[in-house]
Amino acid sequence: MRTQIAIIGAGPAGLLLGHLLHRAGIDTIIIERQSADYVLGRIRAGVIEQEAAELLDASGLGKRMHAEGLVHHGIELAFDGDTYRVDFKKLIGKHVVVYGQTEVTRDLMEAREGFGGQSVYSAANVAIHDIDGASPSITYEKDGVTHTVECDYIAGCDGYHGVSRKSVSKSAITEFERVYPFGWLGLLVDQPPVTEEIHYAHHERGFALCSLRSPSRARYYVQVENGEKVEDWSDERFWDELRARLDPEIAGNLKTGPSLEKSIAPLRSFVAEPLRFGRLFLAGDAAHIVPPTGAKGLNLAIGDVKLLSEAMIEHYADKSEASLGVYSEKALERIWKAERFSWWMTSFLHTFPETGPFGRRIQRADFEYLIGSTAAQQSLAENYVGLPFA
Ligand code: APR
Ligand code: PHB
Repeated sequence: MRTQIAIIGAGPAGLLLGHLLHRAGIDTIIIERQSADYVLGRIRAGVIEQEAAELLDASGLGKRMHAEGLVHHGIELAFDGDTYRVDFKKLIGKHVVVYGQTEVTRDLMEAREGFGGQSVYSAANVAIHDIDGASPSITYEKDGVTHTVECDYIAGCDGYHGVSRKSVSKSAITEFERVYPFGWLGLLVDQPPVTEEIHYAHHERGFALCSLRSPSRARYYVQVENGEKVEDWSDERFWDELRARLDPEIAGNLKTGPSLEKSIAPLRSFVAEPLRFGRLFLAGDAAHIVPPTGAKGLNLAIGDVKLLSEAMIEHYADKSEASLGVYSEKALERIWKAERFSWWMTSFLHTFPETGPFGRRIQRADFEYLIGSTAAQQSLAENYVGLPFA
């Protein structure tokens, strides 16, 4: 098989890249380790920055997002029960769209099927070859047969655990990482959400988050120590812990029910530099991870893919290497700003055993400063709704 761009990974990064390139007449093959159903079964965050939503819209992907997504003009922050609303609309005239990443992925898969884009699911032992030469390729196994895809370039969109970043020689890559001493236990439930807007709560027992997928489906999280096992968290235990961390009035309105999904995700900040190695480009979680506080993961992937698709389109149109040459530098500029914001939101809202009472007072001061300063709120708002795409 031969294609122009071989894409590894059918998450939002890989699928969106394939979509944007197809619209410019560039051929792609997507190779994914899991089945399509497995990919669609993963529950991820659900907040889309305004500009990211506009990009999906402009690429013909916005129909269901408009029908089912919820436009949110602010978020709530609570500190030991004191609640403050950050009004994005008033502060900066912008909004976010609440629409699950799983739904974005489903829309992208349907669009790809619609234009007849080639995708290989359940591909085993994906391997990358000759990225430093002029004819790179990918091999994979399917049903016991080894296949080869020859291409001009490879896009590594295969997430944090993917093969792309790991195929690069250690001396060519620098990795920056911060692992947090806790994770998020998340629960999805078919009940009306307890708050109208997304509610981030700092509490001495730990962070809690009230989010939603629709007017009848809620998503909740509580901070848990590393090493906690989901089997040890019955639904009842989860609801009790969530209630204990919320303002009693909000806790009193919480509608509970059997969990549709419950899982623990560790929290990590991670960036790999650079994002280009010969004919291999990294985008999305393959290149960077943010802790979910602030919901930047999907949005960063969309930002990378916008830049990478534009660079590839320019390359095929003008035979120019210029944009491909600066992709890494340009993308990393925005990535680091989102890393900073996600790290700050995480630091401010979680309890850190090692920082003690001093750390808690600093966090309280952060909250007081925020509610007393329009400048601080504007800063939070512009980062949350998303810094401009390059
Ligand atoms: N070969 C082929 N595919 C692979 C391999 C491999 N060796 N390893 C991983 N994959 C696939 C995964 O199964 C997954 O479907 O790559 C895909 C990567 O998708 P995501 O993890 O969703 O990453 P990305 O597309 O960059 O999306 C970023 O998704 O992970 C969340 O929080 C993240 O919201 C962010 C967004
Ligand atoms: C979610 O709805 O899953 C969600 C919302 C906001 C976040 C993280 C996750 O910051």
